[in-house]
Amino acid sequence: MRIPLFNKLLLFSSGHKPPRNWLLLCLVSVCMLIALFGSSSYGGLDYSVNSNAEPRVYTKYRRLKEQVESDYTELKSSKNGVKGIKLCGKELEHYVPCYNVSANLLFGFKDGEEFDRHCEVSMMDELYCLVRPPRDYKTPLSWPVGRDVIWNGNVKISKDQFLSSGSMTKRLMLLEENQISFNSDDGLIFDGVKDHSRQVAEMIGLGSDAEFWQAGVRTVLDIGCGFGSFGAHLLSLKVMALCMAAYELTGSQVQLSLERGLPAIIGNFITRKLPFPALSYDMIHCAQCGVLWDKKDGMFLIEANRILKPGGYFVLHGTSLSTNKGSMPSPIEEFTRKICWTLMAQQEETFIWQKTTDAQCYSSSTQGAIPLCKDEHEDIQSYYQPLASCLVGTASKRWFPIQNRSSDYRISPADLEIHGIQQHEFYEDFESSRSALRNYWSLLTPLIFSDHPKRPGDEDPSPPYNMIRNVMDMNARYGGMNSAFLEAGKAAWVMNVVPVEARNTLPLILDQGFAGVLHDWREPFPTYPRTYDMLHANGLLSHLISEECSITNLLLEMDRILRPEGWVVLLDKLGPIEDTRMLATQIRWEARVVDLENDSDQRLLVCQKPFVRK
Ligand SMILES: *[C@@H]1O[C@H](CO)[C@@H](O)[C@H](O)[C@H]1NC(C)=O
Ligand SMILES: *[C@@H]1O[C@H](CO)[C@@H](O)[C@H](O)[C@H]1NC(C)=O
Ligand SMILES: *[C@@H]1O[C@H](CO)[C@@H](O)[C@H](O)[C@H]1NC(C)=O
Repeated sequence: MRIPLFNKLLLFSSGHKPPRNWLLLCLVSVCMLIALFGSSSYGGLDYSVNSNAEPRVYTKYRRLKEQVESDYTELKSSKNGVKGIKLCGKELEHYVPCYNVSANLLFGFKDGEEFDRHCEVSMMDELYCLVRPPRDYKTPLSWPVGRDVIWNGNVKISKDQFLSSGSMTKRLMLLEENQISFNSDDGLIFDGVKDHSRQVAEMIGLGSDAEFWQAGVRTVLDIGCGFGSFGAHLLSLKVMALCMAAYELTGSQVQLSLERGLPAIIGNFITRKLPFPALSYDMIHCAQCGVLWDKKDGMFLIEANRILKPGGYFVLHGTSLSTNKGSMPSPIEEFTRKICWTLMAQQEETFIWQKTTDAQCYSSSTQGAIPLCKDEHEDIQSYYQPLASCLVGTASKRWFPIQNRSSDYRISPADLEIHGIQQHEFYEDFESSRSALRNYWSLLTPLIFSDHPKRPGDEDPSPPYNMIRNVMDMNARYGGMNSAFLEAGKAAWVMNVVPVEARNTLPLILDQGFAGVLHDWREPFPTYPRTYDMLHANGLLSHLISEECSITNLLLEMDRILRPEGWVVLLDKLGPIEDTRMLATQIRWEARVVDLENDSDQRLLVCQKPFVRK
């Protein structure tokens, strides 16, 4: 006969007296269960519960619970509840916040200002949804194949735009069924870009474009880059070319460049300065880039002059001037003299000016009307400030002709001194980035989300070197992560973002020949959806939380710019990491907290955006 369960229990409690040891065991296991569930309910100290740290963990837990509750209310107060954030409508598949022209016009912006970035307008009706990929979205091909062939369905471009794309950098595209092909590197297709590059090199007195790097041309800002083909060619010569173009509703140069794995960012300077410091680039390139340089009292040229390094080149190709083809545009001629540029060469439709290497040039009275700015340093933290009609940079310690740079790839201790940066800080940043990259690279596999997750150091199987291409370091410090990627031989380039409140290390980043930009993480990043394979941030979360920023908004923005199956790697203190993990689940990312091998208070949060969300 079977004894009902409660009888059995009854029997147990009345009849046999369990031994003392057994009771103790029970107590211990109950405690362990509580500890286990307790920890996993707030994310889990995944691999270790440090017993000496218990009181600390406890107080942290209280604080964590409070934060989690506030995040919960934040989520609940939105229309979407806590079940997970809903998907945006189909019309927002290519959505870029801050560039709503019709809203800007309604707001009263005109005379070209409506095309500028106006976050204050579009952030009033903040979206609270996840931008979805187009229905026929496909995983981009890996580098370097993906540079030459992209999926038609991933970008927004019309058939008409193919047919009308006549400029040198655009006409190289062919449409093959569902693919767009660009010229291949081995030059099977007639290649106007290579001829152009060779011509520019010869015009500045070099034997060939392979000499750009040695001649000091290491960073190029390619304004209106077509679809990035010139930049792609420069990258093959170890020159970092950043494509910059205005926001475009369809056929975006920036969207297509990034889809190809080429560095690009949305930007224009109709009324505001670019988010780069003075003396940033060795060359500014404009091939029919649409900027009317001779307009607006030369303010556009003053802005170009600001970000150009001493001895740097300004290359103008095609008729983006309001004058006849081939003839010297006279208002420009006059103005370039006032900003101490000399016309080096002119061939057909290509003009090249060189910025002076002599800072005294600007102070001499013969130079006419352009005054120096009163506050030389005002633009060091320049973040979309209004365009100025005065000159900066001449008193900078970074005033150094590009032609005189050493041929060493690495930054020297003397360079660091110019930037006012301690050697040990710089090298520590590199060393810790190097070991961090080594630690988490092996984790970047869906295996990490399984029940038997990978741990740092489990080397096998390691992802291929070209698994990711477009990387953003959201809090780049000295660019150590960029250096680490280069040193490890990964097929990635890094967009180094320096947050506005952080120490402005952007000049140092740019001087290392890296891509970089200043950004306020309370605002959306100027890029199209699905443009990065990996977002990395060390210490950004705790910083933003201390500034009382909404982490939810930040994660929604990260989700927007991340490609499907893209990775998020966040290193931070335990508290912010646990909060973020909670929110990551709302966004339906796969997420796992990883303990670092050392006994620090930091944790790694590794997330992956799913390919499709149901
Ligand atoms: C742009 O602004 C207009 C006018 O305010 C608005 O109707 C429209 O929904 C906005 N578009 C987006 C994508 O936010
Ligand atoms: C740069 O190099 C040129 C030629 O070698 C030299 O005359 C000039 O003094 C150098 N300028 C600086 C600032 O080092
Ligand atoms: C622990 O590792 C992290 C990441 O590699 C590093 O930033 C931190 O300085 C290390 N802490 C200690 C105490 O070694």
